[in-house]
Formats: sequence, structure tokens, C-alpha cells
Amino acid sequence: MRKLARDDGPQVCIKFDGRSVAASRGDTVAAALLAGNHWRFRTTPVSGAPRGPYCMMGVCFDCLVEIDGVANRQACMTEVREGMQVQSQQGASDITPHLFSGDDAEPEQ
Ligand code: FES
Repeated sequence: MRKLARDDGPQVCIKFDGRSVAASRGDTVAAALLAGNHWRFRTTPVSGAPRGPYCMMGVCFDCLVEIDGVANRQACMTEVREGMQVQSQQGASDITPHLFSGDDAEPEQ
């Protein structure tokens, strides 16, 4: 899989596991990471097998990553933003309580 040339738009920089990744504004996190040759987004909770994006449309959940401190975010459904901090997920992650409390406020950093 490769990204089609579309380098005419504004660029943003995100971090993935501490490494800088260049992206175009409007890219999803998954598209940006794949274009940067990052294929391992998470490991499975049971066997620790590596997983990466499969469907790229929000169905398979193989693209789960931690974004800005919030676990279990779908990289294929999340648009990049300058300075975004993305971490790969190792095994099961806790459910972020604010997502289910009705409080839409961002978690404290
Ligand atoms: S790649 Fe399938 S849900 Fe993101």
C-alpha cells in the first residue's frame, strides 16, 4: 500500500512512539503512519501478536492507538492535527472513563 502523491497541501507533524511523522492536513492518523512505513499499531491482548490497519473504514478495530493520552482511538477514523502524540497500544488498554460519563471534556494532560 502506498500513498498517492498529494503533496500540495499544508503539512503537519505528529509523533508516533516518540518519532516524528510528516503528514498532510486532512490525512487520517492511519494513512499518515502507513505512509511513514509504520505498520505495527497495537498488539493483541491474548497473544501479543502485532496488528495494523486492515479495513481503513472504522470496522475492524485493528488500528487502535493511544492519541494524546486517550486509548482505543481508531487511527483510520481520526484526522491528524499538528503536534498530535500517538502511541502504539500494547495489549488491552483501560477504557477511558470520560468517554462513557457523558462529559465531553478532554482528559487532563
Ligand atoms: S483500520 Fe479497521 S477500524 Fe481502523
